[in-house]
Amino acid sequence: MEIVYHERSNVFHLLNDTISYVMMVLPNGHLGQIYFGKKIHDRENLSDLLELAVRPMASYVFPGDREFSLEHVKQELPVFGTGDYRSPAVEICQENGSRISDFQYCSHHVEKGKPTLSGLPATYTEDATEASTLVVELMDPVTKVKAELCYTIFAEGGILSKSVRFHNAGSGPVQLERAMSLCLDLPDCDYEWLQLSGTWARERHIKPRKLTMGIQSIGSMRGNSSHEHNPFLVLKRPCATEQQGEVFGFSFIYSGNFLIQAEVDAHDTTRILVGIHPDTFSWRLESEESFQAPEAVMVYTDQGMNAMSQTFHRLYQKRLARGYWRDQVRPILINNWEATYFDFTEEQLLTIAQKAKECGVELFVLDDGWFGERSSDHAGLGDWTANTKRLPAGIKGLAERIEQIGMKFGLWFEPEMVNEDSDLYRMHPDWILSVPLRAKSHGRYQYVLDFSRKDVVDCIYKMMAKILKDAKVSYVKWDMNRSITECFSVTLPPERQGEVYHRYILGVYDLYDRLTREFPQILFESCASGGGRFDPGMLYYAPQGWASDDTDAVERMKIQFGTSLCYPISSIGSHVSVIPNHQVFRITPLHTRANVAYFGTFGYELDLNKLAGEEISEVKRQIAFMKEYRALLQFGIFYRLKSPFEGNEMAWMVVSEDKRTAIVGWYRILNVVNDRFTRVRLCGLDPGLCYQNTQTNSIRFGDELMNFGLVTSDVTAGEVPADKQPCVDFESRLYILKAVSISK
Ligand code: DGJ
Repeated sequence: MEIVYHERSNVFHLLNDTISYVMMVLPNGHLGQIYFGKKIHDRENLSDLLELAVRPMASYVFPGDREFSLEHVKQELPVFGTGDYRSPAVEICQENGSRISDFQYCSHHVEKGKPTLSGLPATYTEDATEASTLVVELMDPVTKVKAELCYTIFAEGGILSKSVRFHNAGSGPVQLERAMSLCLDLPDCDYEWLQLSGTWARERHIKPRKLTMGIQSIGSMRGNSSHEHNPFLVLKRPCATEQQGEVFGFSFIYSGNFLIQAEVDAHDTTRILVGIHPDTFSWRLESEESFQAPEAVMVYTDQGMNAMSQTFHRLYQKRLARGYWRDQVRPILINNWEATYFDFTEEQLLTIAQKAKECGVELFVLDDGWFGERSSDHAGLGDWTANTKRLPAGIKGLAERIEQIGMKFGLWFEPEMVNEDSDLYRMHPDWILSVPLRAKSHGRYQYVLDFSRKDVVDCIYKMMAKILKDAKVSYVKWDMNRSITECFSVTLPPERQGEVYHRYILGVYDLYDRLTREFPQILFESCASGGGRFDPGMLYYAPQGWASDDTDAVERMKIQFGTSLCYPISSIGSHVSVIPNHQVFRITPLHTRANVAYFGTFGYELDLNKLAGEEISEVKRQIAFMKEYRALLQFGIFYRLKSPFEGNEMAWMVVSEDKRTAIVGWYRILNVVNDRFTRVRLCGLDPGLCYQNTQTNSIRFGDELMNFGLVTSDVTAGEVPADKQPCVDFESRLYILKAVSISK
């Protein structure tokens, strides 16, 4: 990896074995973009790739020159109002009301490794040789606002990360109205756009559309990254597949309001913007104050969608997630939520834990309902002390009893919320986000605490830290069950109210930071009514997240398949739950529920005492299987093979680094009578190795499995031979492939 600066042509070239990113200082002093894509040779005059044209109706920068128009050049920090009519990356409102600025190149320097972003989650390096960073400083000569554009290229993979820091070196205040983290101007628009969208219980479905002239965007203005849109975008060439072709991935390391948009102009160039949503953002910068915009990550590959995902998986698993749990296989847990909801006693919990222990489960998680006066969702949030009517010996006593059974103990919190019916609210009614004299919207009978206030965060921290210190807690599930409304903080002056959404999420990060530092051995799992804040920002603090409240195996296929576009398998919280399923009331076989949940952190969300004897034996086998293979399932190289968004079947697989072991998951949603012959073409195997298939006992070469495919035919529906089991709906199979030596 290298960062080259060509002084004569003023060109910057960031390159590694996979990608090149080329920029130059433009004739007007702005920073321009030249190229991002597959690695190209370096040369002094890459600046001659700058494309200019005489175009009627354009506005030009230099008198007499009819070529250099900001509307038609690719830029790093474009502004609106000086000739570029596309959406800008930055907007600064000044004391005289003007929003025009003019960011001129001042200087640059190169750093080894990657600097941290103060108060924000970000990717990191462990060793300075893993990445190099170019920092380019620009300044607007009138306001003296500086912009520090920070570009990190990693040594491995097609990864380029970008963030921006603004500093007001002027003498008066300015109002930052837009501070996008990334602007990428692509030279054409021949792309298919894929977004991960949905709603509660239907998160991160893959939604494709063709890029076309105009603006297309996804975003959130809910205060959390949201169930509706994930801060992630793929642009792929229409012919690109999972295995080949050009793909760009854009991911935003942030958990609050965001905007990702593509603007295709009249000449088919595409401007990508990624950043904090400008509609709910405004930041006062007094003289000598700074603002740090979060990090955006771009991945480029010409090897297809799987290669893009694998690059994100490696980066987010190893250089975004942190701490003790980053590299550890995850404990198999049982969570009492769907087993009891709010209706439990300590004895009942212990009975659930006892049975789970017998089956091999390692961690018991007590979900909502253990604190304050919480016997339903109407009361108690904010009062983080155990309800001793339910738990006579408190959390400490319960945790001890669980440990005595031989399991670890985990606990649910919803730190950012308060019920009106709570001691905390009665004591501090002004601690919530709300506008004085106006109605307060509630969601699930709760209000959102004003986490932009340090005193509020401090108080919640104290309550949580006390519990975590007193009791032996090994895992925390951090929930968030409503979005923000009436976003207003009584502690901030009028000109700073536009800062509240961002200050709120900084408060959330601060609390996560304090707790994860103080309790480094605790495994944190993020959650927001399922997958309402399943984003890279959360992954920095919590290496796994509850992917969705929908635990049905068939629904989960789409959710987990979509999630895998960006997020590693080790981060995807997935459990086996009861039938009929509690969200869609579907009845699926136990083995299919497990076969889906194995491709995640794995656990159970039911009372195992209610299962029949042969089901318990099956659960024991599942747990033994997961213990044997979880390192491979959670940390192996993951491939999507067949999409549930495109047909009746889904398949995916993981392969070990040395390619000697692989696990393939194959799933058929509805049974098909007298079906065609089917096979799945596998990926990532060693073509010259022979693999024994534990399901069929057959031995096949890797090249055969990858080209002819793994046979999954099942043509027995409608007529069942005596020696065969009848096929059913929601069928699935796992195939374990192990390299063996054979004599030819
Ligand atoms: C929403 C979560 O996603 C569920 O798993 C559960 O923890 C409930 N909240 C509890 O209120």
